[in-house]
Amino acid sequence: MIEFEHISITLGGRKILNDVSLKIEEGDIFCIVGRSGVGKSVMIKQLVGLLTPDEGAIRFNGTDVLGLDEQGLQVMRKECGMVFQHATLFDSMTCIENVMLPIRKHSSLKLHKARERALMYMAEVGIEHLAEKDPATLGPGLRKLVAIARTLTLEPTAILFDEPTTGLDPLAARKFDQLVTGTLAGSNMTQVVVSHDVRSIFDIANKIAMLHEGRLRFLGTPHELETSDDAVVRNFILGHPVEE
Ligand SMILES: Nc1ncnc2c1ncn2[C@@H]1O[C@H](COP(=O)(O)OP(=O)(O)OP(=O)(O)O)[C@@H](O)[C@H]1O
Ligand SMILES: [Mg+2]
Repeated sequence: MIEFEHISITLGGRKILNDVSLKIEEGDIFCIVGRSGVGKSVMIKQLVGLLTPDEGAIRFNGTDVLGLDEQGLQVMRKECGMVFQHATLFDSMTCIENVMLPIRKHSSLKLHKARERALMYMAEVGIEHLAEKDPATLGPGLRKLVAIARTLTLEPTAILFDEPTTGLDPLAARKFDQLVTGTLAGSNMTQVVVSHDVRSIFDIANKIAMLHEGRLRFLGTPHELETSDDAVVRNFILGHPVEE
């Protein structure tokens, strides 16, 4: 469903990704991991046309993403929702008004129906009680949950989460994991999760890719990750340096 082929990209004079290829199948819960600054966000931003690789090809459902014009990209971004690492909410609106924005933009639903639908997605994420709150009063974790609900209202076939559990308390983080493996997996949504949260990754992923120094260092199942004898991989899982 999603294919990155031989992707290379240089940003700010530095080669960030160097010949990285990944294939993500429909219904996958695909985690991308790696050290801070390794290019995880860059990787997924390329898929929705926010950054363009210098070399390589990207396909979404067979469509050549790099060949899309602005209109084509708009259509694709509705099919492939993205929740950014730093949740971008309008602080001049309440949380539910933020969540309602895509519904108002992309459908002709009456206001009260749009509200009902927004509330339904907020409930799915476990934040219906925040509906009338001002986003500026929330911490980064909760802001992210509002952004997740907002992306879900588009009913995409694929969704990209950039560090979804960063800033969430452990209970809220596990609730997010349940959303991914429960409701979203149940509707066969293809999910790409960029994460540092090792516990979450092992709980949710069916496939994991690890980036290291611009290259794909590991690709496999959680079990293969856990039993890998690559020092770089062990280092990441254990959270402390291992002799190479
Ligand atoms: N638009 C840009 N222009 C120049 N450099 C960029 C741009 N976007 C990202 N970079 C650089 O590319 C590198 C990879 O950034 P990226 O945000 O993908 O890292 P990351 O793996 O997501 O890290 P983190 O875990 O901290 O979020 C960084 O060195 C960053 O400074
Ligand atoms: Mg990032």
